[in-house]
Order: sequence, then C-alpha cells, then structure tokens
Amino acid sequence: MKLLITGGAGFIGSNFIRYYLKNHPSDQIINLDKLTYAGNLENLKDVEKNPNYKFIKGDICDFDLVSKLVKEADEIINFAAETHVDRSILDSGDFVRTNIEGTRTLLDAAKSNDNKRFHHISTDEVFGSLEPKDAPFSEKTSYDPRSPYSASKAASDHLVRSYYHTFGLPITISNCSNNYGPFQFPEKLIPFFITNLLEGKKVPLYGDGLNVRDWIHVDDHNRGVDLILQKGKIGETYCLGGASEKTNLEITKFILNEFGKGDEMIEYIKDRAGHDRRYAIDFSKIKKELGWEPQVKFADGLKQTVEWYRDNQDWWKKIKSGEYQDYYKKQYEKR
Ligand code: NAD
Ligand code: TYD
Repeated sequence: MKLLITGGAGFIGSNFIRYYLKNHPSDQIINLDKLTYAGNLENLKDVEKNPNYKFIKGDICDFDLVSKLVKEADEIINFAAETHVDRSILDSGDFVRTNIEGTRTLLDAAKSNDNKRFHHISTDEVFGSLEPKDAPFSEKTSYDPRSPYSASKAASDHLVRSYYHTFGLPITISNCSNNYGPFQFPEKLIPFFITNLLEGKKVPLYGDGLNVRDWIHVDDHNRGVDLILQKGKIGETYCLGGASEKTNLEITKFILNEFGKGDEMIEYIKDRAGHDRRYAIDFSKIKKELGWEPQVKFADGLKQTVEWYRDNQDWWKKIKSGEYQDYYKKQYEKR
C-alpha cells in the first residue's frame, strides 16, 4: 500500500507518519507539504532516512503535481490545512485557498485517477458552538461554523461528501476535537502556554477563561484515522473525541501546577472575536462500529506533553523567534 499524505510536516500529520510507518512497516508514504509557517521538517527527522518515506515540497492547489502523486498512490489522506482560528480572523485568504480550493484540487485528482480512496481530516469546529447543557456533537449534528477557519473546513467537508454522492469517490471523513501532544506549533493554547512559562512569561487567557474544549491526545486521533482507513465504511463520517471536556482555565491551572506557579501568571485579555463557547463530542458511532475509544488519560498525556516541551527547547525556540514573533506582535497590537 502506498499512501499520499498531505500536510505531513505539520503537527498531526507528522505524528501520523511516525505512527503509520511503525505500525505498517511494509507500506510506503509520500508526504506532500507546502512548508508554510506551520510545516517543519524537523518534526520528521527520525523518519527522513526510512526507505518507505519520501517528502515532496508542494502545494495541494497545484493540480499537475497533485495528480502525478495521486497516480502513484493507493490512498490519499488530507491533513493539509490552515488551522489556527486567530490567524483566520486576521486574514482568511489562505484558509479559503488551501482548505477549500486545495481540497477540491485533491478531490479532482483522486477522481481523475480511477476514483482513488480519499480520507479527509476535519474538525469538530464545523458544528459550531454548544451551550453548557447541550448534547455533544455527533455525526448527525447540522453544520454551523462560526469562524473563517471552521467555515473553510465545513466547505471542504461538503465538497468531499459531494464527490462521494456525485462521482462515487470512495471517501471517509473524521471530525476530531482539540488535539494536544508533541510537535504542536506553539501558537495553540497548550504549547503556547507551556513554552511561555518555560520562558518565564505570563499566559494570556481569552475572556473569562471558561470556554470549553474536548481534548484528545494526537496518538489517539491517529489510531482512529488508521482504523477508519482499514475498516471504515465508504461514504461515512466518524466523530472522534477525547472524553475530556475542560475549561481553558482548568487547562491553564493544570499547566501552571506543573511549573509550581499560581494564578499570578495568568493575564486575562480581551476575548477572541466570535469565540465558540463549548465543543464536545459523542464518539459512540466509531466506538460501536470500529471499536475505537481514546486510550490516553488526559492528566498523563498533558504531563508527558509538558515534559516533551521541557526536553525539546531547541525545537520550539527556533519557531518562537522570527516570523512567529512578528505575527504575535501584530496580534498583541490589535488587543
Ligand atoms: P498544522 O497547522 O500543524 O499543519 C498543517 C500542515 O499543512 C503544515 O505542515 C503546512 O505546511 C501544511 N500546508 C498548509 N497549506 C498547505 C498547502 N496549500 N499545500 C500543502 N501543504 C500545506 O495543523 P494540524 O494541527 O496538524 O492539523 C492537521 C489537520 O487536522 C487539519 O486539517 C486540521 O483542520 C485538522 N484538525 C486539527 C485539530 C487540532 O487540534 N490541531 C483538531 C481537529 C482537526
Ligand atoms: P486554540 O488552541 O487556538 O484552539 P481552537 O480555538 O481551535 O479550539 O484555542 C483553544 C482555546 O484556548 C480557545 O477557547 C481559545 C483559548 N486560547 C486562549 O485563551 N489564549 C490563547 O492565547 C490561545 C492561543 C487560545
């Protein structure tokens, strides 16, 4: 089996490639990644010499390149995306281009190469925002995206499903909750706060800090994706969650505690525009049909993640300088 992975130099994709090569030693992977600010080949240093792994730098919007690579592959797994909500608020152009136009380009390449198997990685954010007492999102929840990021992901999901219904493209989709773990770009809540504390800085909490996310370890997510590739039913969507709903304040206190720090390190800042209040996932479909459920306990996974960032300071310090800081300067000027 030969897999074309897109966006494999990012957080989840690089962890997927490492996981997949270990668990399927006779399969091959082509990793197509544009290496945007979020793509980093250092995430894959340990696999770059593996004969079953090949990296290609390129854009999923480039039909000729994508089509050539799709021809070589048996399956396509689309991780490539612009992924940070705050960036989508500053400028949604790349989100529309990569997440919508890029997905369409991949779908057309899959369609014109004998309808290749296509798995699309999506997010629970397409379902919108829950109130505290609402039932969690499931595969039956209507789409109601509220940020430019989630709107672009929702559009890509609709396109993927439309290629199944219209052209018989053999697709599956997974909608997963907030991931955490090693190699996550330090702009997202957990790595941002851990690395700030390692630098002796405060952590900026939006609004009242009581927005809720469901957190899943990246390895649990990737095990679910692998299972869907092996046993998922064509045309179906699967929701994946971590069974760990937490307020941002709870997460912050947990991390502060790992550093022996208290509330004095929290800086409450102006809320994010359009900030979704709560995400939660009912993953009973994939549990019942494919026997998947999350295995990493949140407290263990978060402790390990704090350790990983403590032990890999070179990795994130390079990222936190340069372009990344320019971006955050702009962000802070706006606040
Ligand atoms: P990331 O931002 O860490 O990585 C995205 C990768 O895509 C980068 O390597 C980047 O270089 C690449 N990329 C961007 N535009 C590209 C283009 N036009 N062509 C080729 N490559 C391109 O993102 P992530 O957190 O690893 O997320 C991966 C996928 O999982 C995304 O589709 C995201 O929507 C989805 N997802 C993420 C989470 C989460 O909590 N991080 C949760 C659910 C779903
Ligand atoms: P984030 O990691 O950006 O993921 P998403 O918005 O896609 O769920 O943010 C997670 C939560 O943490 C979200 O409610 C916003 C909040 N947050 C802060 O309070 N401060 C920050 O600096 C960041 C990056 C996020």
